[in-house]
Amino acid sequence: MAERIPLIVANWKTNKKVAEVYDFLQEIQGKLPDAKKVKVGIAAQDIYLHEMVKQSKELKLPVSVIAENVHWADEGSYTGETSPAALADIEVSGSIIGHYERRKMFKETNGSVGLKVTASLRNGLIPIVAIAEDTTRYNPDDEDMAPLTEIAVGLAGVDRQRAENIVIAYEPAWAIGAAETPSLEVIEHAARVIRKSLAILFSQEVADKIRIQYGGSATPENSKDILGLDDIDGLLIGRASLEPTAFLSMVNDA
Ligand code: G3P
Repeated sequence: MAERIPLIVANWKTNKKVAEVYDFLQEIQGKLPDAKKVKVGIAAQDIYLHEMVKQSKELKLPVSVIAENVHWADEGSYTGETSPAALADIEVSGSIIGHYERRKMFKETNGSVGLKVTASLRNGLIPIVAIAEDTTRYNPDDEDMAPLTEIAVGLAGVDRQRAENIVIAYEPAWAIGAAETPSLEVIEHAARVIRKSLAILFSQEVADKIRIQYGGSATPENSKDILGLDDIDGLLIGRASLEPTAFLSMVNDA
């Protein structure tokens, strides 16, 4: 079984003013675990990313700066979009792709997710692919199960050689911004379905290397239990990542 280093990512969404971004980075300085044991990322609005990369270097933070969305073309006439090549140029490490909020409010589809994933990998960015599909149809005795549509369609064009760099974030739609998380059994079950889908699409060896995060009302109170699940390799954290003490506590649970 491949060793998967946990990846804990803050998703700040459309929150924080510039001064709050820098306060947060200063606040976590010297308090993060060894990057060989836990990887940490912060996803923020595009407007902050360049400065966050510079500030993280200055503060010597073992933190990857991540975009919340990315376009599929490296350059061209796409008013308002941010290209993967431009993100790579300023040393952003990756991008969330296909977050439920983007699928719901901005009409992202599995097709556009696929284009963004391949564009990210082409530019050396880590794609954090968010999926929210209902996985209850999974039957563990069904050896011939079809892979989840979000994986089968969204990742169909991905070259197997690069696939291990993908991260999947399982975020059940109803748990995002809510008060509750699914039970540990449901999270583990969903992660197994996801890994099995990845094995069907790529290979078991590749699937065993891909990190699967959980997202949706993760908090310092439930993070340790969720991170203790065999097939969960990290968290994608919304509200609880906005405050440094809560975020650090969850990072240190990994
Ligand atoms: O991407 C993280 C997210 O959608 C979950 O948000 O606030 O429920 O942790 P939250």
